[in-house]
Amino acid sequence: MRMVEPKTRQNPNHLGLPVKQLKQVFGDRLQENEPLARYTSARIGGPADAFLVVNSVRELSETAEAIWRLGLSFIVLGSGSNVLVSDAGVRGIVVLNRAKEVRFEEEDGEPMVWAGSGASLSVVARQASARGLSGLEWAVGIPGTIGGAVVGNAGAHGSDMAASLILAEILHRPVEMGPVGLAGGEPSRETWLVEQMGFSYRSSTLKRQPGEAVVLAALLRLGRSTPDSQSEIQARVEAFNEHRRRTQPPGASMGSMFKNPPGDYAGRLIDAAGLKGTRIGEAEISSLHGNFFINRGNARAQDVKALLDLARTSVAEKFSVDLETEIQLVGDW
Ligand code: EPU
Repeated sequence: MRMVEPKTRQNPNHLGLPVKQLKQVFGDRLQENEPLARYTSARIGGPADAFLVVNSVRELSETAEAIWRLGLSFIVLGSGSNVLVSDAGVRGIVVLNRAKEVRFEEEDGEPMVWAGSGASLSVVARQASARGLSGLEWAVGIPGTIGGAVVGNAGAHGSDMAASLILAEILHRPVEMGPVGLAGGEPSRETWLVEQMGFSYRSSTLKRQPGEAVVLAALLRLGRSTPDSQSEIQARVEAFNEHRRRTQPPGASMGSMFKNPPGDYAGRLIDAAGLKGTRIGEAEISSLHGNFFINRGNARAQDVKALLDLARTSVAEKFSVDLETEIQLVGDW
């Protein structure tokens, strides 16, 4: 998920959606009033007024261009693992990214993998490990798409996308956006080297400037293994999997809710505040890990938001630490 402000994002199309024009451009591809709960890992979220599925990098690029040409903006939903979509849903356009192409390549003997932004990071990581290629073991088991991982600099076990990325292929929206219904300038297709991504802990320039660009694909660095190190790759994957099974709850969740504050852990702080197991409606702070909130059935976004506020307030009062959300709040609140 990307292109959404960390805090509540307002309706991007202030004048309302020109549904007729959208239908002219997208025909039957345009779905109206599509419930988003079925596309989020927490199984929470109201409807999107307009919903489009893209199945390739090319389709993603063409769809983004067409929307921008109408003077509109959109939200990209990847695997919906790092977002809390409001119960009211989204009064704009949501693009579901299923651009899942993956190619293993080699340049000057160096292995790498090119992946569409809608590919699952975890699947790509597993494919690499199974081929005896190292470098992405940390990402096995991380929910989310390649695009979401690039924007949010996803990480685990001491590594992150910043350490793996060679470059990202980006489509930047026209610098001059026209008013709704009128074409602005031309979008530009750009290649951003890792140094240009402005990566920091769980963030990037793209995350800090939501709506400006969409990640089309990423090229990730891999390492070649010898027969000996092949078993080491598998051992690392197994150890990380085991750590996750032991420390993170199964079931419908959004992954880590808050970023870890400098020098501490959000999960530890929420735990120390005595909040594990707390429920509001059918949303629960996991009793296994304080930074995971579970949908026990039909939790509402509002309940999860109330738990977020409770955790933030309690941790601030007890430990004077301001927790910052890692998940992104999407839609009308
Ligand atoms: N802890 C507690 N109580 C809890 C939870 C954790 O005391 O209820 C303590 C643990 O004992 C440990 C420390 O807090 O000493 C850190 O916990 P953990 O090892 O589970 O890692 P984390 O910092 O909570 C991070 C990532 C995860 C990633 C794991 C594994 C963040 C915000 N989260 O979790 O990423 O899977 O490390 O490397 O950086 C995600 O970002 O969505 C995500 C799942």
